[in-house]
Amino acid sequence: MRNPASILITGASSGIGAALAIAYAAPGISLALAGRDRERLKDVRAACLAAGAQVMATVVDVMDRDRMQAWIHDADRSRPLDLVIANAGISGGTAGDGESDEQSRRIFDANITGVLNTVHPALAAMRRRGRGQIAIMSSVASFRGMPGAPAYSASKAAVRTYGEALRGALHADGIAVSVICPGFVRSRMTDANAFRMPMLMDADRAAGIIKRGLARNRARIAFPWPVYFAAWLAGALPPAITDPLFRRLPRK
Ligand SMILES: NC(=O)c1ccc[n+]([C@@H]2O[C@H](COP(=O)([O-])OP(=O)(O)OC[C@H]3O[C@@H](n4cnc5c(N)ncnc54)[C@H](OP(=O)(O)O)[C@@H]3O)[C@@H](O)[C@H]2O)c1
Repeated sequence: MRNPASILITGASSGIGAALAIAYAAPGISLALAGRDRERLKDVRAACLAAGAQVMATVVDVMDRDRMQAWIHDADRSRPLDLVIANAGISGGTAGDGESDEQSRRIFDANITGVLNTVHPALAAMRRRGRGQIAIMSSVASFRGMPGAPAYSASKAAVRTYGEALRGALHADGIAVSVICPGFVRSRMTDANAFRMPMLMDADRAAGIIKRGLARNRARIAFPWPVYFAAWLAGALPPAITDPLFRRLPRK
């Protein structure tokens, strides 16, 4: 959608979500922002207000289905949502203990159920209006199971496939769907990685690329292209070729 005026973003308290909120903030724009960390969310709200946007900032866990539904319906009532960005997500590094049994379950819950809890409550109203746009945060890690991050890469593959299918399923309803597949972006999530990250980019640069991709209604917004191409190729090649290489990669 070229000029969305009412935008909802989860995971807006940090990293890519915060950078997206600030990238969209301008006079005449309404932002419904969510995160769990009240202080960080307050700072992002202040930056968006300073840019002239109207901001509704809410502390809500994406895993809380009822509260997510109530928050999204409220936001839509206060101004019909043009764009919903399901961005919140976690990795093994977010909790600092890698992909333990508990953290693997949390990753699937936050990154998959959290996306459903964001997307589904917005759909009925968008369908009624016959317009709207949904953006789902996946990753280049979705193209090939990563031995260093099995739950994370699997969760991102699930939401990428879901988004790609939804795009076709919702086309006749006038609702656009895009999936976002970033490479390495500087954020609290990548701050936890101890290994060298090729083509690591700043969150505000990533937000600019995502915003332009959404304005063009791109089905898949994947960047930077060399990292995307390498990940795509790794997913296309037979495991017999890629397994020995992937076994040597560092853990998330
Ligand atoms: N950085 C990268 O290189 C990269 C690459 C590809 C994809 N991604 C994806 O981009 C998205 C944003 O990540 P980021 O890199 O910006 O990391 P980040 O700085 O850690 O931001 C994650 C955001 O998600 C929120 N969040 C996490 N779990 C939540 C929950 N249960 N309920 C509500 N909010 C929750 C966090 O809220 P709190 O403030 O409460 O922590 C925070 O605002 C994630 O989906 C991630 O998988 C990141």
